[in-house]
Amino acid sequence: TITIKSLYRQTKEFVDKEITVAGWVRTIRDSKAFGFIEVNDGTFFKNLQVVFEEQNISNFKEITKIPVGTAIIVQGTLVETPNAKQPFELKASKIEIEGMSTSDYPLQKKRHTFEYLRTIAHLRPRTNTFSAVFRVRSLAAYAIHKFFQERGFVYVHTPIITGSDAEGAGQMFRVTTLDMDNLPKNKDGSINYSEDFFGKSTNLTVSGQLEGETYCMAFRNIYTFGPTFRAENSNTARHAAEFWMVEPEIAFADLKDDMELAEDMLKYIINYCMENAPEEMEFFNNFIDKTLFDRLNNIVNSEFGHITYTEAIELLKKADEKFEYPVEWGLDLQTEHERYITEKIFKKPVFVTDYPKDIKAFYMRLNDDNKTVAAMDLLVPGVGELIGGSQREERLDYLEKRMEELSLKKEDYWWYLDLRKYGGTKHAGFGLGFERAIMYITGMTNIRDVIPFPRTVNNADF
Ligand code: 4AD
Ligand code: MG
Repeated sequence: TITIKSLYRQTKEFVDKEITVAGWVRTIRDSKAFGFIEVNDGTFFKNLQVVFEEQNISNFKEITKIPVGTAIIVQGTLVETPNAKQPFELKASKIEIEGMSTSDYPLQKKRHTFEYLRTIAHLRPRTNTFSAVFRVRSLAAYAIHKFFQERGFVYVHTPIITGSDAEGAGQMFRVTTLDMDNLPKNKDGSINYSEDFFGKSTNLTVSGQLEGETYCMAFRNIYTFGPTFRAENSNTARHAAEFWMVEPEIAFADLKDDMELAEDMLKYIINYCMENAPEEMEFFNNFIDKTLFDRLNNIVNSEFGHITYTEAIELLKKADEKFEYPVEWGLDLQTEHERYITEKIFKKPVFVTDYPKDIKAFYMRLNDDNKTVAAMDLLVPGVGELIGGSQREERLDYLEKRMEELSLKKEDYWWYLDLRKYGGTKHAGFGLGFERAIMYITGMTNIRDVIPFPRTVNNADF
């Protein structure tokens, strides 16, 4: 069989030839002696129009009755149709039914809301929007690997089940083989993990960073790219309990190098998707977000903005906008503040750097002012925080002191501290929320619509 993608890409090779195509019926209509089927075979965003005539195929009556969703195999001749909407059509000489659908198929030809399509997550990749989203998701994942591999980064598979809390924020899903209804207890009432599979308290990883840093100190430049989990009970359009994160880590590098890497990577992914999924991107620009191409071109061709947290607070205080949450040095920026900075002030992606140490993770490098850390968040219009990263604290004494302040036990991080003891160097890294990047590239506004089977609050049907 020939793929519909090759029909579109190498049309000349197939015109006036007898070919076979296998796919699913998207729409079907017929008049007395002939009919049209829009077939999609999954290889390409666009459909192939099949024309079938009573005089040419033996099972004409049967074919006019097949429901949408049916899988068929069509043999016929490809003919160019220069005056029609589509560039060519297939004149069928034979149509075989490979797998029947039924008349209650939920994806009849009409507009469905994204909310409804979420309830049929197993069928939604058959729609235009989701076929485009998930092909772009696949390409973007490939682009990420390509970007890092071309630069000599080593891909490290960090564990999904882990005994440490990388962010020290406690938003973890427990992993245990213990009977939750009958937990074994120590004398002091604490849970006795000696009967657990791992012999200690474990959880699903919130970030591969700490393990990634260990490989950074061996390979110099590494990246992770895998699922991460957060038990945040935040029911927003930008948070999921299970999401994928890309986390590079670079040695002999500081915060500036880190931001350069992030900017190069993001531009690379966008360019790759524009070049390799032109039909899908065109569709997003026409039907999902009419400003998409302007926005993406602006990003690819501009230099990202830079502002320190302290400067950002000053600007926000002077803003002519009424914010719901207070703006005060020392408080974290809320989504409304982030959006104001990137959408109203800069109108492009912007790195906010040097946050107060108390609102950032323990591993970030303390600045000379003793108040702020060498952190960076990349904020982008529409999405808000896309990337979070920092230069890491490489000085053992500083790191130990910070961990003490935060009551983090040294024993739990002994291997992490070893990195500072044995040839620790200046190093930095960041985490890109992969789903947020996909939202940004496609213009989709809900994280549930860029994950095949989203895991959010009260959502684990599939
Ligand atoms: O800012 P975060 O929490 O940073 C880290 O985890 C660091 N260890 C990364 C590093 O330096 N290696 O998360 C990084 C990014 C965020 O900027 C955001 O894009 C995404 O991960 N993210 C989420 N995406 C979807 N749903 C959630 N619940 C997310 N939490 C974070
Ligand atoms: Mg963050």
